[in-house]
Amino acid sequence: MNKETAVKVNGLHKIYPSGVHAVEGLSFNIDKGEIYALIGPNGAGKTTTLRIIATLIKPSNGKVNIFGVDVLDNPNEVRKMISYLPEEAGAYRNLKGIEYLKFMAGFYSRGSRSPEDIAGEAAEISGLGERLLDKIKTYSKGMKRRLQIARTLAPHPMLAILDEPTSGLDVMASMEIRDTIKKYREKYGITILLSSHNMLEVEYLSDRVGIIFKGKLLAEGAPSDILERTGAHNLEEAFRFLIREVGA
Ligand SMILES: Nc1ncnc2c1ncn2[C@@H]1O[C@H](COP(=O)(O)OP(=O)(O)O)[C@@H](O)[C@H]1O
Ligand SMILES: [Mg+2]
Repeated sequence: MNKETAVKVNGLHKIYPSGVHAVEGLSFNIDKGEIYALIGPNGAGKTTTLRIIATLIKPSNGKVNIFGVDVLDNPNEVRKMISYLPEEAGAYRNLKGIEYLKFMAGFYSRGSRSPEDIAGEAAEISGLGERLLDKIKTYSKGMKRRLQIARTLAPHPMLAILDEPTSGLDVMASMEIRDTIKKYREKYGITILLSSHNMLEVEYLSDRVGIIFKGKLLAEGAPSDILERTGAHNLEEAFRFLIREVGA
């Protein structure tokens, strides 16, 4: 049986006006229902790639389509299918958690689901319970990220794009967020594209990873396949092996 393709990226380039060539000929596909992680060090081009896929910036060259819809030809159609969590998402410090979720749900409400329905589910996904009644400025970094992850998954997007969902969080907070992402992927068949500079943690979360360095894909596959191919014990070791191989 042919799997449906959620994301097709073909020959993608991004050159910023400053002259920085942030993405250099990137190609990869993501199947429907997959968790796919772009991993690589800071400056590798992950955020740039995610922002292009999320229709926020335009590529200099190359094609991206989401469930068959081209991001340049039809960005509004793409926006209906996705939700996007920026790397450094702010969250209105003076709102209560629950107010923030209701506010965000207003943007995502479409089709049969009301904003109240989406906000209610987001409240549940966040796991913040009574703390949702407190202002966001009283939250820890981990609680803020849970709130944002919840507002991203609750609308059941066809594709959720999560830029560094667990960056800067401690082990417990990261584990909770990883579990939440997995749980809701399974529950609603949401396709997940995430990025991380933490190569070790995505090993446990992702079906497949793309290792990206200086705007190029060094390797791609299930974490176990990449380990086997490189003879590494973990993805960090595999990364070191791969950059030596390309002489970077
Ligand atoms: N808005 C921008 N203008 C110019 N250069 C940028 C911009 N955003 C990112 N870059 C540059 O593009 C490269 C890739 O950055 P980025 O996509 O943020 O990588 P990552 O998310 O992997 O850390 C870096 O060299 C970065 O400095
Ligand atoms: Mg980034």
